[in-house]
Amino acid sequence: MVCMQLNQASHEAVYRFVDEATGTRAIVAIHSTALGPAGGGCRLWSYASEEEAVRDALRLSEGMTYKNALAGLPLGGGKAVLIPPPEVSRPDFDRAAMFRAFGRFVERLDGGYVTAEDVGTSVSDMLHVAEETRHVAGLPQRAGSAGGDPSPWTALGVFLSLKAAVRHRCDSDLQGTVVGVQGLGHVGLTLCRLLDGAGARLVVTDLDPERCARAAELFGATVVAPDALIATPMDVFAPCAMGGVLTEESARAIQARVVCGAANNQLADSRVGRLLAERGVLYAPDYLVNAGGIINVAAEYLGETPASVEARVNAIPQRLMQLVQRAAGDSRPMNELADEMARSIVFEGRSAQVA
Ligand code: NAI
Repeated sequence: MVCMQLNQASHEAVYRFVDEATGTRAIVAIHSTALGPAGGGCRLWSYASEEEAVRDALRLSEGMTYKNALAGLPLGGGKAVLIPPPEVSRPDFDRAAMFRAFGRFVERLDGGYVTAEDVGTSVSDMLHVAEETRHVAGLPQRAGSAGGDPSPWTALGVFLSLKAAVRHRCDSDLQGTVVGVQGLGHVGLTLCRLLDGAGARLVVTDLDPERCARAAELFGATVVAPDALIATPMDVFAPCAMGGVLTEESARAIQARVVCGAANNQLADSRVGRLLAERGVLYAPDYLVNAGGIINVAAEYLGETPASVEARVNAIPQRLMQLVQRAAGDSRPMNELADEMARSIVFEGRSAQVA
């Protein structure tokens, strides 16, 4: 295994690992350990270049610092991105060996970084990571303990926040509310189920037509093309795919009055948050509302119970509404206020209480 440290002033440490035997490459970015070991999932994605993978790891790990701080967790922020070898999609590819190699990378960091699932990785992948290190969560749940796939908790936190945001911004419940869900993966599909149960009308999209067909069949969702969703008339836009979906252009085109979804780094840059606020769109900061998964991961790693996870996830919408009140009072965009509060918790030791 080759391990190299990359120079990055914004982060405590950034590592590039290569395992020649399996062709596995990974970037592990540790943004901050001020509040505890750097916690954040492992993303498996075919990046166009290694520079792009590094950029993604840097942004995602900084977001994890803020997410963990606002959720009141004793964790710093980190993220791993795994760059698979070209043969990853071949049926005889040894995926288990790739995740064991990644587990050895994590072990080298000696508890400074705790990993779990993210886009492209699953509970069974984390089981292979766990063969090499104990600094991993998102493993099958044991009776009485937190654990398992974090995505249902992420979906629940987003759902409860979305409901609270609609109550505030549209003065209504979800019955008949039109919600556009982008991305029908682990989180998106579960979110659709919760929304459908609350009587919302769904407009959905995914790059995978089979996932769209499934949502249409299960929930009577209307399917639109991936690039058509944002400008489709709807009350709420719920991004649950990849980051950077809200650009200046898409923020001008958006029809929704609320944006609330699971995707990390939804804003292409912070000016977009200001533009949304100016247009009267309530933007629920992504790392605040999608914290359910890491709350579950943290509880598993720290040996807590599912009841503690439930209590923390149920508190997410309250935290969101406190932020909404404060943003209105200070005439500030939600994203700027959330970043400022998270930084004050991490770097000035303020309490995670929003009020
Ligand atoms: P996933 O990999 O299970 O699903 C992502 C889905 O988005 C896939 O179906 C994919 O085809 C689709 N997609 C990708 N690009 C798209 C595009 N341009 N247009 C439409 N669909 C597109 O991922 P998962 O776990 O559901 O996560 C979704 C998002 O939520 C990610 O941004 C992730 O970082 C974030 N997140 C996930 C958490 C979790 O617990 N799984 C926790 C916190 C954040």
